[in-house]
This record gives sequence, C-alpha cells and structure tokens, in this order.
Amino acid sequence: MLEDSVDLKTITSLCKRRGFLFQSSEIYGGLASTWDYGPLGIELKNNIKASWWRNFVWSRNDIVGLDSAILMHPDVWKVSGHVENFSDPLVDCVSCRKRWREDQLESKNCPDCDGELTDVRLFNLMFETNMGPIKDENSSVYLRPETAQGIFVNFENVMKSMRLKLPFGIAQLGKAFRNEITTGNFIFRTREFEMMEIEYFVNPGEDEQTHLKWLDDFKNWYSDLGINSDNLRIREHKKTELAHYAKATSDIEYKFPWGWGEIQGIANRTDYDLQAHSKQTGQKLSYFDEKSSKHVVPYVIEPSAGVDRIFMAILLDSYHEEDVSTSDGKSDKRVVLKLSSELAPIKVAVLPLSRKDVLSNLANQIHQEIKSSGVTTGIVEYDDSQSIGKRYRRQDEIGTPICVTIDFDSIDDKCVTLRFRDTMEQIRVPMSNLTEQIRLNLKNV
Ligand code: GAP
Repeated sequence: MLEDSVDLKTITSLCKRRGFLFQSSEIYGGLASTWDYGPLGIELKNNIKASWWRNFVWSRNDIVGLDSAILMHPDVWKVSGHVENFSDPLVDCVSCRKRWREDQLESKNCPDCDGELTDVRLFNLMFETNMGPIKDENSSVYLRPETAQGIFVNFENVMKSMRLKLPFGIAQLGKAFRNEITTGNFIFRTREFEMMEIEYFVNPGEDEQTHLKWLDDFKNWYSDLGINSDNLRIREHKKTELAHYAKATSDIEYKFPWGWGEIQGIANRTDYDLQAHSKQTGQKLSYFDEKSSKHVVPYVIEPSAGVDRIFMAILLDSYHEEDVSTSDGKSDKRVVLKLSSELAPIKVAVLPLSRKDVLSNLANQIHQEIKSSGVTTGIVEYDDSQSIGKRYRRQDEIGTPICVTIDFDSIDDKCVTLRFRDTMEQIRVPMSNLTEQIRLNLKNV
C-alpha cells in the first residue's frame, strides 16, 4: 500500500455497508469482477457523468452529444481493426493452469508456482454474441469494447444535422464490454464498465496542439471534482504500447493504493477510423472547407475516460479518518467522505432530534420545503433513526455536506441547526432563511 492512502479493503467494506456497491449476483455466490451500484453508488456515478456532460457538452459551443447503440454492424469492428488487433497476449501455466497476460509478467515463469508457461496466444477481448434466433457465423455480433465507433459511423449524420464547423467534438457515454483476461482491484478492471468519450475533430496539423489542450482541460476538471492534484500524473505511452489506431497517447493516472493506474487516456487517433470506414463503405467521411474549397478528412483527438475508475479514485481521494472528541470528553474516530457538493449522493439530511409528533410534523414540513424549493436537484434525506451522534457519523461517512437538525427549541424560536460535514461547525439559522443558507453552502447543485 502507498503511504497516506486508504487501503482497498476499507473502501470495499464502506461501499457495501453504505450502499455504494454490491457484488453482482451475490446471493448466487457472485459473478467474478462484476459489480452492482447501490442507491448511493448510482447517485455518485450519475453525478460524475452529469458533471462531465455539463463541462464538456453544455458549457461549450463546439461539442454535441450522441447515444448510439451498443450493438453495431459486425463489419464496423473488422474495419476499425478491433477484430484483428484488439487482443491481449495470453499464456497459461502448464503446472497450475493459471492464466496470465504475458505483457504484465516480470519473469518468464508462472508468478504463482514458478511453473513453465505456454507460448503466447493472442486473445481477442471482444464479447461475441448472436443476433436473432439462428446461431451461426452470419448472426454473430459484438458487444462494443469502446463507444467511439458509434461516433465515427455517425460522423456525417451529426455534422450535417447540426451544421458543425471544424473543430468540433461529439461526446458519448455508455457501457462498454471487454472480456479481460485479468480483472481485479475492485472496480478498476472489470468486463462490463462505463466510458465517457469525446471524439474531437480538427484540421490535420492542428492535432498535436489540440492534444495538449485536452490534457490541460481534463487536469482542470479532475481538480474541480476535488481530486488532489498530487495524486494525478500524466504518462505518455511508449511507441510499443500504442493502440493500433494511435499516433500518440497520454494517460491521466491516479495514485491508487497499489500504485499508479490509468483513469483516462487521451489519444491522437489521426484520420485512421474515418479513412477506414470511408474506404469500406464508399461514403465520403470528410469535411468541406469553404475557405480552401477542399474536402479534408479530420484528425481526431480522443479523451476517453472510465466512469468506474473515476468513481473509485474519487472515493479513495475523499476518504478521511479524523480523531474527534465525544461529548463526554473521550476520543473517537470519525470517517468522512469529503466529496464536493456536486458529487455528494445526498445533498442535505433533515434530522429531527426526536420522533415525537410535535417535532416530526415540523421536520416533515421542513423536509418538504427544502425538496420543493429547487435549492438542489439531488436527494434530501429524512432520517429519524438512532441517536443524533450516530446519524451525523453516517452522514459524514457517505459524504452529505449539510445536516439540518430540528430540536424542541425550534418549535418556539423558529430556528434550526445547520451542521457542516467538513468542519462539524454548527450554526443556528431562522427557518425563514433556511433554503437561502443551504443554497449558499451547496453552490446550487
Ligand atoms: N476509445 C479509447 C479507449 O477505449 P482505453 O484506454 O482502452 O481507450 C478508456 O479505455 C478508459 O476506459 C480507460 O482509461 C479506463 O478508465 C476505462 N477502462 C478500460 N478498460 C477498462 C476495464 N476493463 N474496466 C474498467 N475500466 C476500463
């Protein structure tokens, strides 16, 4: 484990205990490396995706969205080079039969039992299935291993319908599937995951400069999400690592507990995909430049991020354990997820001090008022179980930025207590000013 970082077991256990992630098909013993996002997990995941969409589609004038089908014409994957090249080198141990990725091994023998390894076989990572009732090679289709191809084959449709001028981008997020040989490290490498991809089309010659600009834009976005920049770095691919379509790629890596790992790649895909699809289909996939009166096949810069890996990086980065003293003067530990308000699964928790009707009536009224005020589009939770201390701890552990506590004094003085997660500071505010106070502290999320 790296210094100062929380270990994976702690995060995995928090995720299960608090409803962020569960093992898929758990009551059947689970299915390896597949995970289900629970009620709080889906909120955090949706908030990450919404932030990406807000930043890279809504806030810009040069990027539009798309949601293409997961199943595509099988020729797409032949022409894109995925049928031939999208494979990992696989070796098996002849003694213990364990399977390894040859490019991840440090020795020539099995890392588990030191047994001899077989020759390398190339293993294609695409999941193949059949469309329609007959199972033969003519009915075979693939689950997409990247969302990017849906963008390339729609290049002309999107450009024409939206009257786009270079440079412009098409953004898409959605599920992708890879039959990975080695999975693991929780949700870091799974067989079903979600991607957020932008294909940004530029004039050839402007590609290298644009590539650098995208690296900066994404570094800034990760900082805005609240990830500590010391835990991020950029790593340029060596020529031997480049994907079959890339001229250059830089990864944005996060310092995970086991070491640095990619959360996003930013590749220069040149005109590889548009040229290949154009050649195969006979469709002109180019842009008419009015100034030069010439057709150009644009180059593509592709920022491609994994939602699940960002989700995990955010959980690790926001996790803190703090020593605190209890009301009776003893010392205790509190776990707090210091998530930005934008990402927090629950934005505000309403906590009546007692379940007595006189308090719960008032608390329910306040809960409804906050919900209908539009001060947040996220969850406003009502919780009247357990002691107030335990309820604060639970809200800290799931990252709720603000708690509103209603006590017996509230009935007479028409004030409630606002308690802030990070500082644990408590302030008393008039109910008439409550939503405004929440608005100021949540910054409208
Ligand atoms: N279209 C470009 C592309 O597919 P990639 O680097 O193979 O590039 C992009 O994938 C991102 O998708 C990665 O940076 C990573 O965050 C995520 N990703 C890739 N394989 C994954 C897997 N097996 N499990 C979880 N996330 C994965």
